[in-house]
Amino acid sequence: MTHATRLAGKVAIVTGAGHGLGAETARVLAAQGAKVGVADIDLAGAQSVAAEIEAAGGQALPVQVDLMSEDQIKAMVQAVAARFGRIDVLHNNAAALDMAQRQSDRDVCNVAIEAWDRALDVNTRGAMLCCKHVVPVMLEQRSGSIVFSTSGFGLLGDVTLTAYAASKAALMALARSVAAQYGKQGIRSNAIMIGFVVNDHAQKSVPEEIKQILLAQHLTPELGRPRQIADVVAFLASDESSFITGATIPVDGGFTSHSPAMVPLKEYFVRQGSNKL
Ligand SMILES: NC(=O)c1ccc[n+]([C@@H]2O[C@H](COP(=O)([O-])OP(=O)(O)OC[C@H]3O[C@@H](n4cnc5c(N)ncnc54)[C@H](O)[C@@H]3O)[C@@H](O)[C@H]2O)c1
Repeated sequence: MTHATRLAGKVAIVTGAGHGLGAETARVLAAQGAKVGVADIDLAGAQSVAAEIEAAGGQALPVQVDLMSEDQIKAMVQAVAARFGRIDVLHNNAAALDMAQRQSDRDVCNVAIEAWDRALDVNTRGAMLCCKHVVPVMLEQRSGSIVFSTSGFGLLGDVTLTAYAASKAALMALARSVAAQYGKQGIRSNAIMIGFVVNDHAQKSVPEEIKQILLAQHLTPELGRPRQIADVVAFLASDESSFITGATIPVDGGFTSHSPAMVPLKEYFVRQGSNKL
């Protein structure tokens, strides 16, 4: 089987697919044969990604959804199931990450309560509600794969983005709950813990100096690219990963794999001219 056909016959929903990593994932899943529900609060973004997929010979349905609304989530799931007849893959990718959200999500004493509520509502409650409405469809098929996008912020303490971090930590638990609850009925559920990926939307506004600080903590020569995330989602969506469930897989260039002392130690050793301890 080639990559062009490994998802043939499968139907996927990608939330937050109008931009960034979700858009790239939608494109890659479609290129591998999946029919894709391209869901986003930004209808124009979803329509443009779906049009690109169709122009490349794939099949896609743009759907507008605000993940803060259970009614809209229900309607999104029904629209995709009605159009394509089944749902095999759910990628809970969307997150509230616009500039206004990030700037008001700070340390605990200074996080705006609206930013806290929005992060938990969109990132966590939204993903849970997507599962609530997609899992029954997968249970009827007795198969399905759910992928949650989380972050190193959900694992490691940091000085800002308190609400985002809590929302992403919760997704790791949610991924395991779904795996434990529905695994015997053929549903797999995994989380990917993503490192810093420069995309065309949220992260392009991050100052260069911060990118360099983060790059020093990745073990790879470069920060991530959307395609590197999309390829892992496609693998988890495919039957090639059929024995992987309940896992949180770092897709982070080693960001969460090493000692916090590594970077200053490296600099120290360079100054000393040796790494003898
Ligand atoms: N880019 C990174 O470095 C990075 C790092 C770690 C984790 N992640 C995770 O990857 C995922 C994608 O991130 P990204 O960088 O592509 O962000 P992005 O801001 O480019 O994309 C997020 C998408 O979610 C949509 N969205 C926001 N609120 C919504 C709502 N209420 N309902 C429906 N859609 C909504 C946005 O319109 C947007 O299209 C997120 O879950 C993020 O936490 C990204």
